[in-house]
Amino acid sequence: MSSDLQATVEAMVRPGRGLLAADESTPTIAKRFKAVGVESTEASRRAYRSLLVATPGLGEHISGVILFEETLGQKADDGTPLAQVAASQGIVPGIKVDAGKIALAHAPGDEITQGLDGLAKRFEVYKAQGARFAKWRAVYNVSATLPSWLAMQANAESLARYAAICQEQGIVPIVEPEVLMDGDNDIARCAQVTESVLGEVFHALRRHGVVLEHMILKPNMVVPGKGCAKQAAPGEVAQATLAVLRRCVPAAVPGIFFLSGGQSPQEATANLDAINRAGAQPWVLSFSYGRALQETVLQAWQGKAANIGAAQAALAKRARLNGAACLGRYDAAMEAGA
Ligand code: 13P
Repeated sequence: MSSDLQATVEAMVRPGRGLLAADESTPTIAKRFKAVGVESTEASRRAYRSLLVATPGLGEHISGVILFEETLGQKADDGTPLAQVAASQGIVPGIKVDAGKIALAHAPGDEITQGLDGLAKRFEVYKAQGARFAKWRAVYNVSATLPSWLAMQANAESLARYAAICQEQGIVPIVEPEVLMDGDNDIARCAQVTESVLGEVFHALRRHGVVLEHMILKPNMVVPGKGCAKQAAPGEVAQATLAVLRRCVPAAVPGIFFLSGGQSPQEATANLDAINRAGAQPWVLSFSYGRALQETVLQAWQGKAANIGAAQAALAKRARLNGAACLGRYDAAMEAGA
């Protein structure tokens, strides 16, 4: 079991490679499709996610793909399960297992992620379908008073219980505490909240006996809220992010794979590049982007079979540029090329 976990971690954490988060829930993917005029149906979701995992050469820069439960059961036109299409490219298939967030009782403005009941049992099916890792996302709203300690503790406890269940089942957990960038807070407030959140998360992981060597952390970068007048250059984001991570994340954790969280594709790449130019760190620092990898793909695709090649080229490009950013070798001039 422990050697399975080790093999999965090694397959996921490889130089110059990151993860493709394609695990949008049914309401979220409907929102993304609507923005490009596509109706979300079982067939359109299958068509879109088929093109993603079949992108030629994707395995050169993508080591794992996070799928939604529905996708794990879907097949390409030739009948090959989509998880197998990914695996045949050297991309490890994984699954989002949380059941989304709800309001946290007695904590106005805070949210809690649900989905623990029956989780161990659900893994029997997911494993048979090819999943080797999982993801659970906790979300923290930021204001002068949010998140509350209650929300930080409750979400940390759920993340740790989830991670322990995963490891017991031979599944590598991606632990995702996301401090949102939707507010008008400055970068210092994001740093303060992220440090508190990660502190609680690693306390809880320890309480639950989670093996740090066999998990991946998926945090937010430390950035100002979108509504903050003072935005931050990549160098400032890198410095603030690394300061918090160095205080909170034990060196035993093999990889830190950032979410993009509403950054533009170019911002997310430039910030990751700056983080990887800051010198040697104890962990591999990479990406696990949803929007920042898929935005240009959706725009190119528009739901039309004739556009599949262009959509795949858009994905291959962002994967390549983020792969370069993992090595601190990205340059904005690379955006101009195909
Ligand atoms: P974004 O990169 O769009 O934030 O998505 C990553 C993710 O998996 C959120 O759970």
